[in-house]
Amino acid sequence: MNIHELPFTYLSQEDLLDAGCFDMRMAIEVAEKTMLDFEDHRILFPEKIVQIFDQASQDRINCLPATLLDDKVCGMKWVSVFPRNPKKYNVQNLSAVFVLSEIEKGFPIALMEGTLASNIRVAAVGAIAAKHLAREDSESIGFIGSGEQAKMHLLSMKTVRPSLKECRIAAKTVEEEQQFIDELSPLLTDMTFVAAKTHARAAMDGADILVTATSAQAPLLKAEWMKKGAFYSHIGGWEDEYAVAQQCDKIVCDDWETVTHRGQTLSRMYAEGLLSHDDIHADLHELVSGHKAGRESNDERIYFNAIGLAYIDVAIALAMFKRAKAANIGTELDLQEKMVFEHKDILSKIRM
Ligand SMILES: NC(=O)c1ccc[n+]([C@@H]2O[C@H](COP(=O)([O-])OP(=O)(O)OC[C@H]3O[C@@H](n4cnc5c(N)ncnc54)[C@H](O)[C@@H]3O)[C@@H](O)[C@H]2O)c1
Repeated sequence: MNIHELPFTYLSQEDLLDAGCFDMRMAIEVAEKTMLDFEDHRILFPEKIVQIFDQASQDRINCLPATLLDDKVCGMKWVSVFPRNPKKYNVQNLSAVFVLSEIEKGFPIALMEGTLASNIRVAAVGAIAAKHLAREDSESIGFIGSGEQAKMHLLSMKTVRPSLKECRIAAKTVEEEQQFIDELSPLLTDMTFVAAKTHARAAMDGADILVTATSAQAPLLKAEWMKKGAFYSHIGGWEDEYAVAQQCDKIVCDDWETVTHRGQTLSRMYAEGLLSHDDIHADLHELVSGHKAGRESNDERIYFNAIGLAYIDVAIALAMFKRAKAANIGTELDLQEKMVFEHKDILSKIRM
């Protein structure tokens, strides 16, 4: 091998699936460890870069870097969000790739499909919140929204709350609800699935765990449907009426400071002066490290809002890369075989 050769591994989504990387437990463990590293200042996490191509639709590509100092790996998620895609082209709205580089010489080590890691991260973070904040005997889970995030969340919530027996699902159309049930029920054969026929109340009223994961911007979830002792995981933008948060005994975020700058329900309430720093019980890493308490009684209503922390995505992508390498899965490629002027035929390739 030429000393100037720069090899790296390419991993498609199929490679990752073949290598067993669709692993909720792995993602949850990695996310927990990475949150503790974050608390220990072992993560570099600069601001993301956002490029919006259409203000009305919010078509955008974001660049989210992070460095895991203990792993000596710097990574970047390059993620496209094109909300019109499903309606306009009948294709997914989100696509992503990760680049991972080692930080000894600074060379790239992997280029990977990133939608899987990204979606698993959202669900893993929701599951960690549920582990600390949902009742241990939770049996029913209700969803508004039946897309990719909802599907991943059901799998992750079931991982940390195996007592879940019933899943009720409300989406914008009955077809989407049925698709959710057709795809998820074969994976969770001990659960009963109920289509709410687009009626959010039927999905949410009285559920032990409530999840909203929609592309809507409206107060879909009503406070009166959230019973005492329930845990609510809020994933999308504005999805619940303000009274939901106002009646909760605890509000936990993945990162409250970031929430204050965004457009979610809690962000809106903060901007309107209806919520302050003092109303926030904790950021999730403080529950993981034990610095703050999780659920303290069976009656508490608890609200969790995740905005998305890309350093966790990078850590999950790295764990997937390691697992794929160990299984000898992926395509080894060269970024370069040698330095430009080492090519013997370089004369024939230069244009001046
Ligand atoms: N918090 C995070 O870390 C994070 C990460 C990724 C995505 N998200 C957000 O999660 C949300 C869901 O993402 P997704 O990939 O699952 O989207 P998706 O397009 O796959 O699904 C959206 C769902 O919302 C439902 N919906 C839309 N309007 C509705 C309404 N009025 N009533 C009921 N259901 C309605 C649709 O029926 C669909 O089932 C998006 O807002 C996305 O931006 C959050």
